[in-house]
Amino acid sequence: MRTPVIAGNWKLFKTIGEATGMVNALKPLVAAAKGTEIVVAPPFTALSRVADALAGSNVHLAAQDCYWEEEGAFTGEVAPKMLRDAGCSHVIIGHSERRQYFGETDATVNKKVKAAINAGLTAIVCVGETLAEREANKTFAVIESQVLGGLEGLPPEALSRVIIAYEPVWAIGTGKTASDAQAQEVHAFIRSLMARCFGQVSADGMRILYGGSVKPDNVRGLMAQPDIDGALVGGASLKAESFAAIANFA
Ligand code: G3P
Repeated sequence: MRTPVIAGNWKLFKTIGEATGMVNALKPLVAAAKGTEIVVAPPFTALSRVADALAGSNVHLAAQDCYWEEEGAFTGEVAPKMLRDAGCSHVIIGHSERRQYFGETDATVNKKVKAAINAGLTAIVCVGETLAEREANKTFAVIESQVLGGLEGLPPEALSRVIIAYEPVWAIGTGKTASDAQAQEVHAFIRSLMARCFGQVSADGMRILYGGSVKPDNVRGLMAQPDIDGALVGGASLKAESFAAIANFA
């Protein structure tokens, strides 16, 4: 049995006050969702204060990115161990917005994943095809190279600290969710890839999330699919009520 994960990626939204206000409103709304791993990913500036606000709750804290070095002359970067220090247990890596706007590649994703795991974080590794790639029938090829490139060189036992998030780029922030069947097809493909490369046991234990316009009214259909183990939520994670409605899907 895989523990479902509902994670909220707040992207470039919320001041410290807005972020702590949001989690204070969220905590009582999701307190009963014991069987679900609930995660919020505020911007870096709010992490430490949100960690304090979440103390003793069932909501986990994630950062939206990290660097791969532990320390050094790398102006502007944040190391995984600094995220741990700020109270994070998870970190999102390789989001399509980072690939599209900030030059993230499968090679940098791979370095970040390894550094995050070494620091004791759980890496939420994002993959997904663009609309042009889907229309050119390249979805599986793109997903295969992103998954294998991002996880290259990891020992199977490290995979318990990896969550994959399949986020088709054409579904992000567009209101166009992949259908349950479209998402399931790619999730099953990712799981078969994992089995081929890391063995069936690791593949069976791996959580694979769907992201892209997940809302309270479509989460149940997605979660009913056999290979969909959770959601990475953008827009609908910014309000306590809508995120709680998703986290309480069960
Ligand atoms: O990482 C979450 C994401 O990119 C999906 O965003 O707004 O379509 O739920 P949204």
